[in-house]
Amino acid sequence: MMTKTPGPVILLGPPGAGKGTVAKPLMATLNIPQISTGDLIRGNIARGTELGKQAKSVVEQGGLVSDGLVNDMVASRLAEGDTKRGYILDGFPRTLVQAQWLDRYFASSYGSLPVIVLSLAIPYNRLIQRTTGRRTCPNGHGYNIYSLPPKVADICDIDGLPLNRRADDVESVVEERLKKYDQETSPLVDYYRQTGRFAEINADQPVEQVTAACLAAIERLRA
Ligand code: AP5
Repeated sequence: MMTKTPGPVILLGPPGAGKGTVAKPLMATLNIPQISTGDLIRGNIARGTELGKQAKSVVEQGGLVSDGLVNDMVASRLAEGDTKRGYILDGFPRTLVQAQWLDRYFASSYGSLPVIVLSLAIPYNRLIQRTTGRRTCPNGHGYNIYSLPPKVADICDIDGLPLNRRADDVESVVEERLKKYDQETSPLVDYYRQTGRFAEINADQPVEQVTAACLAAIERLRA
């Protein structure tokens, strides 16, 4: 159990790398919130907000929502009271513009610890199965028809509720998302590598081992 203040942590990684999956045990162990821009955007879409209306077709086609909208959304989430000890950014930043915005945000946040960046690395050929196989219960319990199937097809083991598949988890859209990752997000690996508070994590191993590797890296980089 880590006793130090964890501070801000970025989880970088392509679609299906396991950012959301590993964020859950990290949150529980470090006692800090996960801020997933994908979840925030999907929440806006489900509620039919103005942001959700603007984002819906972009997300469903595997594109990226505009930097301005996403940065504003993150700014209001970071202003909530539960972020003082730190937080896990999952899926943000995703472009150089977002990373530069975040740098300015940290520079203006008095007393903020420097950010730690964990890059989840996994061969590309694993990502299609991870994304197209993903199923989620309305209460957030996650499954994968290939690696973690429910006992009864399409039904949550815990709640008995029907499982959902994300609209952007069909193969053609996943390919678009991977292309966007290559073009817009993968340059951030080098951007953050130079900061000295960066670690590459092997994400092609069981979740418990990915989690342990992340915790060890945070402990080491926060020393
Ligand atoms: P978002 O929701 O962030 O999607 P993503 O980055 O494409 O990531 P995923 O949620 O697909 O994957 P993940 O890495 O979290 O994997 P997971 O843990 O679920 O974004 C969706 C969309 O919103 C974007 O395409 C864009 O349009 C928009 N958006 C979001 N942020 C934005 C931003 N900053 N700027 C602009 N637009 C933005 O795992 C996947 C599956 O693999 C699961 O089934 C899981 O069970 C399984 N799995 C995970 N880890 C393991 C393991 N170690 N072993 C075996 N199986 C595993």
